[in-house]
Amino acid sequence: MLLCVTFIDPTPVPLPPGYRLAELDDAADRAAMQEVDRWAFASDLAPEDEPVQVWTLEPGRSVGVWHAGARGTALAAVHSSFAFRLQVPGGERVPASGLTWVGVHPGHRRRGLGRAMLHAHLRRSRERGEVVSVLNAAESGIYERYGYGIATHRVALSLGRGAGLRPVPEAEDLVVELETIDPEHHSADVERVHGAVVRPGWITRDTPALRTAHLVDWPSARRGAERKRLAVVRDAAGRPRGYAVFRRKDSWGEENLPAGTVEVHDALALDPAAARALWGTLLDLDLMGQVKAYTLAPDDALLGLLTELRGIGRRVHDDVWLRILDLPAALRARAYPCGVDVVLEVSDPLVPDNAGRWQVRGGPGGVQVTPTEEAAHLAVGIADLGAAYLGGTSLTALAAAGRVTELVPGTLVPAATAFSWPVSPSTGWGF
Ligand SMILES: CC(C)(COP(=O)(O)OP(=O)(O)OC[C@H]1O[C@@H](n2cnc3c(N)ncnc32)[C@H](O)[C@@H]1OP(=O)(O)O)[C@@H](O)C(=O)NCCC(=O)NCCS
Repeated sequence: MLLCVTFIDPTPVPLPPGYRLAELDDAADRAAMQEVDRWAFASDLAPEDEPVQVWTLEPGRSVGVWHAGARGTALAAVHSSFAFRLQVPGGERVPASGLTWVGVHPGHRRRGLGRAMLHAHLRRSRERGEVVSVLNAAESGIYERYGYGIATHRVALSLGRGAGLRPVPEAEDLVVELETIDPEHHSADVERVHGAVVRPGWITRDTPALRTAHLVDWPSARRGAERKRLAVVRDAAGRPRGYAVFRRKDSWGEENLPAGTVEVHDALALDPAAARALWGTLLDLDLMGQVKAYTLAPDDALLGLLTELRGIGRRVHDDVWLRILDLPAALRARAYPCGVDVVLEVSDPLVPDNAGRWQVRGGPGGVQVTPTEEAAHLAVGIADLGAAYLGGTSLTALAAAGRVTELVPGTLVPAATAFSWPVSPSTGWGF
């Protein structure tokens, strides 16, 4: 069973006796990885889902913990990561390790396996030259201890059918096509729109497996709704300018009035006219009573198009958690909307290379990030710097909660202004 296993040194967090951290083989260990994953997430694959499942994990990036017990050796924990490129303020894409599949079999939880895997993940990601790591958290209490902070938020909206939208004259020139999703046929159009978005936090789906997995229609996920549909907005030349992945679920009220729901899983538009055409269609589908959208950016165009914001249901959720792995590289890669000259005292117990005093000096044309002996202006932990990194959480908001300390009066607001960004960060899909 354990032939050709590459064990990984778990220092500085040794595992209890009988546990070994090791690289996992994408093919040979796949069944064991899926078994741990299903135990950890209390989920089982429905027989009808088997034909559509897609293996998205990338070779050489999965690590697990084997347990040698009285009844043999079995996999007790897994995690993996994607080799993403993450857009930062200004549009540059930095190498980002997209942590995924973190799972410990419930029979082995709270023995330090998760901690050992996270330490290995941070070390291996840094060795690969990845500048940040990102993840979607299953629970809020898990990842801050490893230096992750909430860097992007997503907004879920619930709207009544026919909600009013402001006119955008050019929308009349666009066509909205409605089709049943076929991943092979539609992924090119979808990714053409998705890949053209300019927004911090944006992660493109760079492998064919991720593109396909994003569009496949799990029969068990329908829960009484129809198959996944696609709305594509095209200009006069046939070029896609926007799209939405959605399903409708029919329902009839007590008075026999149509009260169906449109569930919009993913909606993007590249310009105001495309946004108007797309939402005009989704908000006016026959027999529907309401429209629910789940993954909007906090500044999505829909919020500016609606003529009435009262009465809509609006919830804000944490989206992507970000961990800075290489502080000078990360701070140099992003753009700053104005001049900046600040000394940060950064604490990072897990990545000592990030810790200490850093001077960030420069402006919209670029900054220098250098270690310094100068007195610090602001003190910040690495998780909170990660939260502020994409410009979606202000340093002033963190300071108001006692998470950033202004050591020199008058330095917080200029630094917060420089670390802000006019476009809300968003990722728009889960991984
Ligand atoms: C979350 C999970 C990976 C943690 O693994 P684990 O091996 O039990 O965690 P560890 O024993 O290494 O715990 C390390 C620390 O995290 C804490 N912790 C672990 N899981 C936690 C949770 N869900 N919420 C809050 N704290 C948690 C532990 O209490 C411990 O705290 P300490 O630093 O104060 O001692 C595991 O419980 C699991 O697989 N859960 C179900 C699937 C899941 O949620 N995966 C995460 C996907 S994003």
